[in-house]
Amino acid sequence: MSQSSWYFPIAINVVMSCFASAVLFHIIPKFKEMFIKAGLSGTDMNKIPSVPIQSTAQNPSALEKPILPEAQGVLSGAVYLIVVFLFIPVPFLRHFTTSDVQFPHHEFVDFLAALLSMCCMLFLGFADDVLNLMWRHKLWLPTMASLPLLMIYFISFHHTIIIIPKPFRDMFGFSLDLGVLYYIYMGMMAVFCTNAINILAGVNGLEAGQTLIIAATIIFYNCHQLLYSVSQTQAHLFSLYLLIPYIGVSIPILFYNWCPAQIFVGDTFCYFSGMVFAVVSILGHFSKTTLLFFIPQILNFLYSAPQLFKLVPCPRHRLPRINLKTGLLEMSTAKCKESEMRLLGQLAVRLLNALGLLEVTHVKEKENSYLEFNNMTIINLAIKFVGPIHERSLSSLLLIFQVLCSIMALVIRLHVAKYFYDE
Ligand code: UD1
Ligand code: MG
Repeated sequence: MSQSSWYFPIAINVVMSCFASAVLFHIIPKFKEMFIKAGLSGTDMNKIPSVPIQSTAQNPSALEKPILPEAQGVLSGAVYLIVVFLFIPVPFLRHFTTSDVQFPHHEFVDFLAALLSMCCMLFLGFADDVLNLMWRHKLWLPTMASLPLLMIYFISFHHTIIIIPKPFRDMFGFSLDLGVLYYIYMGMMAVFCTNAINILAGVNGLEAGQTLIIAATIIFYNCHQLLYSVSQTQAHLFSLYLLIPYIGVSIPILFYNWCPAQIFVGDTFCYFSGMVFAVVSILGHFSKTTLLFFIPQILNFLYSAPQLFKLVPCPRHRLPRINLKTGLLEMSTAKCKESEMRLLGQLAVRLLNALGLLEVTHVKEKENSYLEFNNMTIINLAIKFVGPIHERSLSSLLLIFQVLCSIMALVIRLHVAKYFYDE
């Protein structure tokens, strides 16, 4: 495909995305009351209550903190779907006007499958915000929503071979056919992308900020490949068609969610965003590269593993807690009787403590000895390293870390990878 032929759809896509952005900037404030009235709201926990500190110190109550509308991701998701629905005919316009070239049915089907998966995920995320589903259910939702994608991958591509890096070729050969394992990996990728964003959350601006940076990184990668590589043009274009509108609808969400937040994005936004990334990377055939852009989320998942897998207690909320006197965020903690902690849990706590990655204190209360440790998220870990910090600075710090990881990932993918793989 010549460059001039893809400039036109991209230009239309950019214009439509700007329009979507403007619409969302306008409608989000108007929907606030409606969401709160419908019971879709949450307490902004890291704010100082609006009543004087002295009167709340004896009777701390979350109700005095700001109540914000939840699940605003459903607005961005709905606008996103409308934009993509309207955009679908644009890349195929030349096929409508001439019968010289055969209509690319597989490209068209890719679009439909992508929209079906994203639609499913938006619906399931909203259901989670409304019904507060349990964690074991949350893992099933993205798996189910990714099935249309996997089906299309099977029908139109069915490429399950991975190329072995040069240093390991003596042992494993040039390539390895993973067969059904590749489909399981792609299904797990959808589960990971959606949940990894949702658990790196709890500080104003962090959910939308991280997804915007990931989307911008993938767009940079797609543009680089389109300009400097001759292969997979269609796949990178497909990714751009879906990611540019995503950027358009996420900017207003970040604007209103930035500290002090006026809205919460909700699980709807986290799941929807994760599915957008899973869709473009699976159908764009660069799922391994996308994982490189999730380094902070992978680190957060690994660090969280002892709590997620219940080796140590995991409270409902692990977000940092505010010190009402200073207005700064401090690490939140979990507590457990030492005698009741599982062996693997004890090992994990000791190891992390020895590595300087966990703050552990021994507490004695009424004959019982407890182990208190900070909740295992990289948000709390950042506070451990830099000390008490304002919510806005913490969010900025974590987003700067995300940007640095993205730069590192791009350097690895575009410059280091060629030493391990043939061009
Ligand atoms: C995940 C995390 C949980 C974290 C929560 C925050 C795990 C296993 N779960 O749970 O630890 O506390 O996200 O989103 O890691 N909130 C704020 N400020 C914010 C964002 C959220 O106070 O900037 C609070 C609000 O009360 C909001 C609630 O968190 O209503 C949303 O929590 P929810 O998305 O339901 O939590 P989970 O996704 O289940
Ligand atoms: Mg959430």
